[in-house]
Amino acid sequence: MRSRVILGAALLALAGPLILAPSLAAGPGDPIVAARQASMKQMAAAARVIAEMFDGRRAYEPAAFKAAADALSARAGGLTGEFPQGTLGAPSHAKPEIDQARPEFEALARHIGRLADALSTKARNAPPGITADMRMTGPPMDGGSLLGKRLGAAEADPATMPAEHLLHLILQDCTSCHSKFRRKVE
Ligand code: HEC
Repeated sequence: MRSRVILGAALLALAGPLILAPSLAAGPGDPIVAARQASMKQMAAAARVIAEMFDGRRAYEPAAFKAAADALSARAGGLTGEFPQGTLGAPSHAKPEIDQARPEFEALARHIGRLADALSTKARNAPPGITADMRMTGPPMDGGSLLGKRLGAAEADPATMPAEHLLHLILQDCTSCHSKFRRKVE
C-alpha cells in the first residue's frame, strides 16, 4: 500500500515537469512578450526625446529630460526579468540564444541599467539650459561593442561622465544587444 503511494508520488514528480514545462517558443499573443515589446518601445521613445534635445531637434526642457531619463532607467532596470524561458523565439523577435547566453545577456542588461541610472541621477539636477559639462567631448570613451571580452574590462565610473556621453553609451548597448539577441525585423 505504502509503496503504491510512493510510486504514485514519484510518477507525479516525473510527469509534473513534463506537463508544466513551458514550451520552448512563445505562443502567439503571449502577455510577457507583449509587455516587453511595449517596454522596449517606451525605452526607445525616451531615448529619442533625450537624443533630440541634445541634437537641438527638440527644445531642451529640464523636466522633460528628467521624465525621459527616469522612464529609461525604470525600463532598463527591469530588462533582465522580461525574457524568461518559454517566451523566446518566434513569433517574438527575442532569439532563443538568450537562453544559452544568460550571463552575457544579463551583463548587457545590467550595464545599460547602470548607465541609465547614472543619467537619471544627473537629470534630477539638470540646469535650465544645456551646459558645456553635459556635452560629450570627443568620441565615447569606452565605445565599441560590449560583447565578448570587453564585458570584463574595467570601465570609467558612469557618474563622472557627461549626460550626452552616457546617452551615447546607452544607445550602444541597445545596438549591441539587438545585434546579438534580437531577430532581424523585416
Ligand atoms: C539586453 C538586451 C537588450 C537591450 C539592452 C535593449 N534591447 Fe531592445 N530588444 C531586445 C530584444 C531581445 C528584443 C525583441 C523582443 C521581442 O520581440 O520579444 C528587443 C526589441 C526592441 C524593440 C521592438 C519592440 C517591438 O515592438 O517589437 C525596440 C523598439 C527596442 N528593442 C528598442 C530598444 C532601445 C531603444 C534600447 C536601448 C535604450 C534597447 N532596445 C535595449 C533586447 C534588448
